[in-house]
Order: sequence, then C-alpha cells, then structure tokens
Amino acid sequence: MEEKPKKILYNRQASAHYYRMGISWATPTIAPGQFVMVRVTDGLDPLLRRPFGIYNILGPKGKSRGTGIELLYKVVGKGTRILSTRKPGDDIDVIGPLGDGFPYPSGFRKVIMVAGGMGLVPLYLMAKELHGATLLFGARAREETVFIKDFRKFMRNVKVATEDGSYGRKGLVTELLEEEISSGSVIYACGPIGMLKQASAIARRADVKCFVSLERSMACGIGVCLGCAVKSRPHKGSGSGVYRMVCSDGPVFDSADIDWDSFNL
Ligand SMILES: Cc1cc2nc3c(=O)[nH]c(=O)nc-3n(C[C@H](O)[C@H](O)[C@H](O)COP(=O)(O)OP(=O)(O)OC[C@H]3O[C@@H](n4cnc5c(N)ncnc54)[C@H](O)[C@@H]3O)c2cc1C
Ligand code: FES
Repeated sequence: MEEKPKKILYNRQASAHYYRMGISWATPTIAPGQFVMVRVTDGLDPLLRRPFGIYNILGPKGKSRGTGIELLYKVVGKGTRILSTRKPGDDIDVIGPLGDGFPYPSGFRKVIMVAGGMGLVPLYLMAKELHGATLLFGARAREETVFIKDFRKFMRNVKVATEDGSYGRKGLVTELLEEEISSGSVIYACGPIGMLKQASAIARRADVKCFVSLERSMACGIGVCLGCAVKSRPHKGSGSGVYRMVCSDGPVFDSADIDWDSFNL
C-alpha cells in the first residue's frame, strides 16, 4: 500500500453525473477488483477518504503495473461533487491498492461478469484479460450505460438490460443471468446488494461458483474502524456467523460465504 501524494492527470465529465479521473502514479502491481481510498479535498470537510475501484491502469498495454490509474465515478453527494471540481495538475491524496481482488478463473467453461451501475468498475481489468468472457450489465436507464462502450471495444458478448427499457432489454440484469448461466460457469459480480443477493441465489441453484465485490460505507479502508463489517455464513463447527471487513477481508468474497439475509433490503 502506498501513501505518497499523486497528481491528477485529467478529470473529464463523461455524461451528466459521471466522470473519468486519471491519476499519475507509478503503480505497484494491481489485481483486478482492488480499490483506493481518495481524500477528495485538501481541506477538512469531508475529512474521511472515499473508496473507489481501480478501473484501469494507464501506461504500457496489458501490464498489471503502470504510470497511472483511471477511476470512474458518479457524483452522488458532497465528496464526489468536490472531486468533480478538481483540476489536472492538482495534488491528490490516494492510498492503495487496497483489498483482495477477484481470483483468476481457471478450469471454468464460461466466465460471466454481472455488473449493476458503477459495479462495472472492478470488472474492467479482468475483462481486458479475458476477451472471451460474457458481460451482463444492468442499469436504471440509458444515461447510466455511458461506460459500456469501453467493454464493447474488446468483448463480443455484452448484453444490457435497463429498468425503463431505454437501452438494451427492458428488465433486470439477473434475468439475463438466468438465461446465460450454465454448468461449469463462474460468475464475477458487482453492483447493488439486491442484485448480488439475486445473482448469488441463481448461482447456488445452478451449482455454479460466484464471486461478488461488495460495497459498504468505509471510513478507514484498512480494517481498523470496523465500519464496513458484513456477516458471513456459519462454517462447519461454528454455531453462528462471523463478521468480515469488506475493506480488508474483501471487497471480493465467495458469494456462498455471505449471509445475504443479514442485509436490510
Ligand atoms: C470498495 C468500494 C469501491 C467503490 N468504487 C466506486 C467507483 O469505482 N465509482 C463510484 O462512483 N463509486 C464507487 N464507490 C462508492 C463511492 O465510494 C461513494 O459513492 C462515495 O463514497 C460517495 O461519497 P459522497 O461524499 O459523494 O457521498 P455521501 O455524501 O457520502 O453520500 C451521498 C449518498 O450516496 C450514498 N452512498 C454513499 N456511498 C455509497 C455506496 N458505496 N454505494 C451506494 N450508495 C452510496 C449515501 O447513502 C447517500 O445517499 C465504491 C465504494 C466502495 C465501498
Ligand atoms: S472501512 Fe474501516 S474497517 Fe473497513
């Protein structure tokens, strides 16, 4: 994990609420699915860093190390609003890479990635390595599909569902998953908890391995504050489940290890 200040290379608006930010950083090796904690301002408000997935590595093609990283973010509140005003050349305080990424798929017949909204972010580096994978993407409306074209550049099998039908199929991404899943598949999923819970149930019924990247509010990002705890399912010999930290034990978990009923949906 590195803590030195970095420089913003670019901070471009991609559509109404979505931005791409490049950060100059001679990166250590990054695994698909890892994240960073970003202090959005040099001032004191907001004080806490915000977590963002590492979308892409800038620099030599196909390397897991580079000269920078790219983040994609949606403006949802004060921190991301401030982030959207930051300028190229500004210093920015970033720590990472943090957490465990997705395990590399070996021995599976088919790789299915399932993303909801900004859940696309942690899947991009993996998708770049696995051209033959299938991507199923769900969003509320066309406006949220702005980054799907990045995946289409190198993936042939990309299917989209929007809740209002303004892009792709009208419906939920989990309906696409029901159609695509087959024995011997592996699923990599990131998105809202409701979507992940559904994906996990579909995988369990099909007896298919499913890895999920979870998002929780995070204060420290390094396993100290216990603010990002999720309940895991009891293991053999232990009567009740235990709590796992999304930041340091995850954010990627085997979906069979998560107690999905413990979430308030
Ligand atoms: C491991 C991890 C990776 C993430 N990667 C990305 C990413 O690549 N791109 C991206 O845009 N966002 C990502 N997020 C979510 C991002 O961290 C939050 O959107 C951000 O912290 C909000 O900060 P804010 O100050 O703008 O909003 P706040 O003022 O803190 O909150 C504004 C509103 O957004 C909601 N909100 C805050 N955090 C989340 C969240 N994690 N999920 C859903 N709703 C939330 C709050 O409940 C509130 O309603 C990630 C979160 C985690 C835990
Ligand atoms: S954010 Fe502090 S323990 Fe995970």
